[in-house]
Amino acid sequence: QIEVSLRPASLEEYIGQSELKANLRVFIHAARARNEALDHVLLYGPPGLGKTTLAYILAHEMGGNLKTASGPSIEKSGDLAAILSTLEPGDVLFIDEIHRLPKQVEEVLYPAMEDYCLDIVVGKDTGSVHNIRLSLPPFTLVGATTRAGDLSAPLRDRFGIVDQLQYYELADLRKIVARTSRVMATPIEEAALDEVALRSRGTPRIANRLFRRVRDFAQVYNEGVISLDVARDALDRLHVDHLGLDAVDHKYLLGIIERFRGGPVGLEALSSSIGEEPMTIEDMYEPYLLQIGFINRTPKGRIATQKAYDHFHIPREEKATGNK
Ligand code: ADE
Repeated sequence: QIEVSLRPASLEEYIGQSELKANLRVFIHAARARNEALDHVLLYGPPGLGKTTLAYILAHEMGGNLKTASGPSIEKSGDLAAILSTLEPGDVLFIDEIHRLPKQVEEVLYPAMEDYCLDIVVGKDTGSVHNIRLSLPPFTLVGATTRAGDLSAPLRDRFGIVDQLQYYELADLRKIVARTSRVMATPIEEAALDEVALRSRGTPRIANRLFRRVRDFAQVYNEGVISLDVARDALDRLHVDHLGLDAVDHKYLLGIIERFRGGPVGLEALSSSIGEEPMTIEDMYEPYLLQIGFINRTPKGRIATQKAYDHFHIPREEKATGNK
């Protein structure tokens, strides 16, 4: 599968997030020297920046297997117990969207994280209810979330390593696209490399998605070579503008500007007005628009900034409460 070979397998190959990487190197080295499992790791930040990839890498570097699950898929404590009971020493359990773990499941996780123990209740049907405690092998939980703030304090406090992933710098995105071009054996011109990197909103997952689409256009129109012209044409046809904003970003920004006179507008009202899920907007679209200074979040709601108006060449009407 393409996806698998695109994922770097070691920290050495992983591009960007240099501070996080340098720290992880130390923690991995130290844990290995002590012959212990790496402490539990919480990774948070916008989607597509490489949280799952890092979990793969941590498992690989620690010489363990990776087991993956996601918060919403673990409905009952028994589901978690079933996953935990398959762990071997040094394995990494990756739980994506860990902020969506049900409360009673979370409670099973605490002793598992703290003491490598699994507390289960047996005998519910026989009338002689009692707890038994099973021991688990030393393992590392890697939790990922787009919303660190939604994690309960007791869960957050049980992670020894907590790190935020940052949007990637252009130079790093460029390296990622160049690597993808090598892995996919599709040549790309230097200028086209810049173009794809520029329009990827600091996000490797988007860079790789755009690369695949640009490659399709190159295959059909340019004998497989990704030239600047092909890249530009493809990206324009995909409605990805020169800042990487796509059709949903446009709908969102124009929604604030045209339907709500620049805001402030509440997330719910805006979402239903443009027909997108509030959670999708909040987790996937707003973080980047905030980062590039196109919107602000105020207690009264979202507002579009001057930069956003400029991007669409729309003059901003003066208001008594001028939005800055
Ligand atoms: N592919 C996706 N993200 C990557 C990263 N951070 N480093 C290397 N290759 C990647």
